[in-house]
Amino acid sequence: MTIRKSLLAIVTACLLSSCNLANSQEIKQNPKWVQSALETVEKHTKNMLPSVLETKKTPRSIEKGLRHSRDWTSGFYPGTMWYLYEYTNDKYWKEHAETVTEFLVEEQYNTNDHDVGFRVYCSYGNGWLLTKNDEYKKVIIQAARSLGTRFNDKTQTIMSWNPNKKKDWKYPVIIDNMMNLELMYEAAKLSGDKKLAEIATRHADQTMKYHYRENYSCPHVVDYDPETGAFRKMDWNNGFCDPSKAAWSRGQSWGLYGFTLMYRETKNEKYLQHAEKIAEFLINHPNMPEDMVPYWDYSSPKIPTMRDASAGAIMASALMELSTYSKNGKKYFKAGETMLKNLASDKYLAKPGTNGNFAIMHCTGNYLGGSEVNNTLSYADYYFVEGLCRYLKLINKKELFN
Ligand code: GLY
Repeated sequence: MTIRKSLLAIVTACLLSSCNLANSQEIKQNPKWVQSALETVEKHTKNMLPSVLETKKTPRSIEKGLRHSRDWTSGFYPGTMWYLYEYTNDKYWKEHAETVTEFLVEEQYNTNDHDVGFRVYCSYGNGWLLTKNDEYKKVIIQAARSLGTRFNDKTQTIMSWNPNKKKDWKYPVIIDNMMNLELMYEAAKLSGDKKLAEIATRHADQTMKYHYRENYSCPHVVDYDPETGAFRKMDWNNGFCDPSKAAWSRGQSWGLYGFTLMYRETKNEKYLQHAEKIAEFLINHPNMPEDMVPYWDYSSPKIPTMRDASAGAIMASALMELSTYSKNGKKYFKAGETMLKNLASDKYLAKPGTNGNFAIMHCTGNYLGGSEVNNTLSYADYYFVEGLCRYLKLINKKELFN
């Protein structure tokens, strides 16, 4: 090897270790509460595995059980395994994450809804970032092309769900859709197809314009006219039933996470400012509980009411990232740390062997829909682990991404 080549190899190794926990000798700071929480998640995830391997389905919640890959939540269990591999560097997690990720292979062609981003990016996307497996790269690009088929030049958005006469939805877009944009940017980089990134940017711009109110809260659904592109109405499916003021907590967390990732991908300050405003709305909200694990909707007429710990886990992970970009970084880091610490306490983190082998308790899928209320949710576990891994990287002065 020439000196130049060996230098290049050293620089590459340093760059890789700068955003990867797998090099665990570099984790000098690993507080007891984080270690213990991640060990607990490992045990739950291991206990869940035999039924996953047997059925080739992935867990959604105690209420809804194991589901086929077409369920919107199918990517979270393999995604959790990839984070556990990143944290432990244990090939047990790599091998099983590979196996379970492949259960989702057909989802790359799914054009039926926008959730292809959740399904494929949490599974194949995390696998790609950790292994650079070329097959994963192809799946990511195909999945982004499938998602791109749902973009309309008139509305300038990706259609989340299909039109629904009963609900009077012609072109419904939900705030959750912001999360799928990560897939589009990664696929654009991997394929060189700039159109994929452009779709994501235009979608985010329209969402900023039509989904958000002056106070930086948003309803779950916005409907557009696909013929003219015009905004039709704000509406609800999850959260409180008055779309003029509903602030469904998980939806607010999706938005915070989504606009933070928009800044990561574009470095456009307007997205950072938007994410900061959302963070301020949430952190300072009079209905934010003291332990910072949100109720199911900030505008619920009955407070205190049921928690949604998944909203807390998503928000905590987003705040970790936002803390690295914002002038208010310390405040956001502290708020995220408080949320993670509380989620790691006995109040929310279940003992191994209990809670149907899910880690986080007190989540709410859809409160008014009466579904998965005070239940478990695989995405609460996923974003909790992601948030903890981000926390560890930050306290060990590592980059979150490279
Ligand atoms: N993306 C669906 C939900 O958050 O419930």
